[in-house]
Amino acid sequence: MAHPNPPSTEALLKLYAGAGVDETIAAEPVDWFEGVEKRRAARAVPSPQTPDRAPDRPAPVPPDGPRKRAEPVAPDDAVMDARERASNAQTLGELEKALEGFDGCPLKATAKNTCFKRGSDDAKIMLVGEGPGRDEDLQGLPFVGRAGQLLDKMLAAISLGEDDVYITNIVYWRPPGNRTPTPQEVQACAPFLERQVELLDPDFLVLIGGPASHHILETSEGITRLRGKWRECRIGGKTRKAMPILHPAYLLRTPAAKRHAWRDMLTIEAAHKTDG
Ligand code: URA
Repeated sequence: MAHPNPPSTEALLKLYAGAGVDETIAAEPVDWFEGVEKRRAARAVPSPQTPDRAPDRPAPVPPDGPRKRAEPVAPDDAVMDARERASNAQTLGELEKALEGFDGCPLKATAKNTCFKRGSDDAKIMLVGEGPGRDEDLQGLPFVGRAGQLLDKMLAAISLGEDDVYITNIVYWRPPGNRTPTPQEVQACAPFLERQVELLDPDFLVLIGGPASHHILETSEGITRLRGKWRECRIGGKTRKAMPILHPAYLLRTPAAKRHAWRDMLTIEAAHKTDG
């Protein structure tokens, strides 16, 4: 029997978008029952080459068709290639070009743009987030979507603007469906982040959210315990101070947590005034 009040197409699309289904995934229909057994077997022994996406979910295809890419690079080779390219770069501009030529992170194949950085190459404060989302992928810049706008407001509240900060992520391409990047993807990008920190040489780092904090501080402690206290990390050739903070995307969902964020911003302001 037909539904008495069928939802409009617009309402359905909104529902999908709210659940994170915000892009078409293939130009041609695919019979996903075909080869089920083969895929099940493949999942039973996870391959380091296999991105951690939802089972049976096809990789999103950019509107202009799948990107041509070089032969898949084995993780160790990818990290070695990344190290070599990153260490050859003598400026942040050269590093960005080197990253553009790097094919060792599987995320690049499904992303529309590389998101290297936003802000000033002379900044004394470096912020590091998890990875680009949809808006960032479209614009090729980190933290320009809703979470980024909130981040800008948090920075403005302590009188910091784009000239005072340098913003990047632990991966430079959008993970499909905004999932957390896999350790393999993070490791492939890590030599570029190391070199980015070394070349910028900020007074301190601000680690935005759990995944960035876990990677840089080499810990699995929860962000709610990590946040708000200065931590030490070894990155970019020396031991540096880092302040983990709650991710603005989390603050958008949990406004009551903003009071913690405010306290952390005041701690960052005090350090900036002391160091500057
Ligand atoms: N979230 C992140 O962690 N990074 C971005 O660039 C955008 C959203």
